[in-house]
Amino acid sequence: MKRLRIQIKSITNLALILALVAVLFTACKSSSSSSGNSEMDAFIDSLMNEMTVEEKAGQLTLYTSGWDVTGPVLRDDYMDELRAGRAGNLFNAHTVDYATNLQRIAVEETRLGIPLLFGLDVIHGYKTTFPIPLAEAASWDMDIIEKSAHLAAKEAASAGVNWTYNPMVDIARDPRWGRIAEGSGEDPYLGGLIGAAKVRGIQGTDLSDPTTILACVKHFAAYGASQAGRDYHTVDMSDRELRQNYLPPYKAALDAGATTVMTSFNEVDGVPASGNKYLMTEILRNEWGFDGFVVTDYTSINEMVPHGAVANLKEAAELAFNAGVQMDMQGGVYSQYIPELIEEGKIKESDLNDYVRQVLEMKYKLGLFEDPYRYLNKEREQSTLYAQELMDHSLLAGKESIVLLKNEPAGKNSENLLPLSKNTRSVALIGPLADNQKDMLGTWHVAGDESKVVTLLEGIKQTAPNVRINYARGAGFNGNDKSGFAEAIAAARRSDVVVMAIGEDYTQSGEAASRTEIGLPGPQQELIEAIHALGKPVVAVVMAGRPLTINWIDENIPAVMNAWHLGTMSGKAIAETLFGDHNPGGKLTITFPKNVGQIPVYYNMKNTGRPFDANNKYTSKYLDVSNEPLYPFGYGLSYTTFEYSNLNLSSNELSAEGSITVNVTVKNTGKYQGKEVVQLYIRDLVGSVTRPVKELKGFEKISLAPGESKQVSFTITNKDLEFYTRDMTFKSEPGDFKVFVGTNSVETLEADFVLK
Ligand code: NOJ
Repeated sequence: MKRLRIQIKSITNLALILALVAVLFTACKSSSSSSGNSEMDAFIDSLMNEMTVEEKAGQLTLYTSGWDVTGPVLRDDYMDELRAGRAGNLFNAHTVDYATNLQRIAVEETRLGIPLLFGLDVIHGYKTTFPIPLAEAASWDMDIIEKSAHLAAKEAASAGVNWTYNPMVDIARDPRWGRIAEGSGEDPYLGGLIGAAKVRGIQGTDLSDPTTILACVKHFAAYGASQAGRDYHTVDMSDRELRQNYLPPYKAALDAGATTVMTSFNEVDGVPASGNKYLMTEILRNEWGFDGFVVTDYTSINEMVPHGAVANLKEAAELAFNAGVQMDMQGGVYSQYIPELIEEGKIKESDLNDYVRQVLEMKYKLGLFEDPYRYLNKEREQSTLYAQELMDHSLLAGKESIVLLKNEPAGKNSENLLPLSKNTRSVALIGPLADNQKDMLGTWHVAGDESKVVTLLEGIKQTAPNVRINYARGAGFNGNDKSGFAEAIAAARRSDVVVMAIGEDYTQSGEAASRTEIGLPGPQQELIEAIHALGKPVVAVVMAGRPLTINWIDENIPAVMNAWHLGTMSGKAIAETLFGDHNPGGKLTITFPKNVGQIPVYYNMKNTGRPFDANNKYTSKYLDVSNEPLYPFGYGLSYTTFEYSNLNLSSNELSAEGSITVNVTVKNTGKYQGKEVVQLYIRDLVGSVTRPVKELKGFEKISLAPGESKQVSFTITNKDLEFYTRDMTFKSEPGDFKVFVGTNSVETLEADFVLK
């Protein structure tokens, strides 16, 4: 084994050993599981025989490079650590030039020459930016979502990245939480499908293909349930709630083959996730059979000290390690304390070996031992960044993510205000997001280049070149400066129609960006009221990373479009939608509350013992606001209209092994070709534990020409009716069920069946 080390150190012999490994590698290239891969096992065994405890701890260590730092910097000596073999992985290090040098140091200057993993938060794109995840979820289109993930991974992979911290599958019901922008919304079933689609897109079917990279399912677990929507705050919920509503998307993403998992910052049942053995070992390994590796979130091992879970960093390292966490992100505590902890018998050497093996296996599967520079090809980088395929997909995904919230006639007109005619003489384009590149990128646009972004102003110029545009910024996102109002009012006065581009800037959602008031920030509300007072037809295009409480807009503005932060092609996607080249079909995957006091408000709630009854004071309600949200889950309009009819079931009885087919007819009753997401929900009327008033169990996105009808069919089996029963077994219970099919979670047709 000494030979292996000596050979790796020597460049001439390195070629030899790499050739040998290449032969071994080809035989097991596409394996996604560690079992049965004896060549890989043999290779890793030999390598591990050569490693000191310090070097093993190094493989369990991940540091940020000095670039694009995404959290607190605790140390700036990562280069020394790298050379000493005490840092086996880096993140926030990308571009071929930058990463090649770091990889060269790892391969040529460390004792064993083990290549680095390069991680990055490629959350919704690398350079070419796609819609933020909450937006893209509104497309309900798994092909689009998978393709965005694939193209983002491919683009990042061309720039040296071989591991991304995506998908984020945290269920969130609280729009005060800024990170709601990064997930898929409130539904566990849809969240699971989306998480799985992203994993397929990122990892493909062969990790050694240099266009695919490792995915990382995060943040395990239940980070989205931070109390009061405050980031990093406590999470406390029953095991039933955890398993029923929060864990399914992580499981679905792992079932799709995700190779790594990231812990969350929060505690669960009093134990911080990064030291939580119940989560990391009992559930993840023992119940779910996960065989990849777990990385902490950024310094979250260290944060177990202020959490009050341990007295010092050494105890933190011990707790995390024994909980089943393989890699320490940025904390530096594994590399510092693992040797002592082994010495003192506080952690087991056999565990250390297992952990290191899990990390080395990923490097092997990526093909890094065969060619450490596999992801570092300058030509590929140049031809992949901002390739036309990526830009086209960014536009498509952007359009499919837009949700039309309201569309009514303005003034005395009989036609709905949208779509706007390209013959409109003049449009006033007003608001801080109208001629704005940076904020279109949204949160977590780590490498996104704002100079490539198509603004709404530019998008309208391209889409409707004959329309005169009177642009005014009007207001900003913070403070109360109204000095731009006069110019905006003058622009509106000179125009036939006003388009207001309003909402949040990119820093107002995302990590560490919770808000207690989630209306339009800064003086924008006053701006839109001042413009509305002029009596012109106004379209509100709301761009934000979360649901905003836009009641006034809903009540007063005839046309409202939720356009989130759509990435590089934002302005074009919105303009094509405003002017009817695209008919919007997005549907909300998160409930929009009327006010912050309603939060949490979500569709799959319980009925309570005193469901609201207008004739009975002592029922569940508020005195000041109704229980209904502003816009429910699944909601979204189209320029056309759809009519649902003929809901019928193949049988009103379902046996344990049988199935029921649910049919419904959907007709396009309007003037435009349009897409509709037909949604199926069920309700279990009586259970050994109470069941939600509705649960999404299926959907289909269809496209219909004007006048066209389609029959949409769903199949319900026993599996769709399973839940965590009184004794925590996951099964269905015989009894009465309701099935609902409709255009959103509220407007549905209903039928009944019995599970025998
Ligand atoms: C902290 C965030 O919570 C996590 O999502 C991200 O992947 C890491 N920082 C790395 O940037």
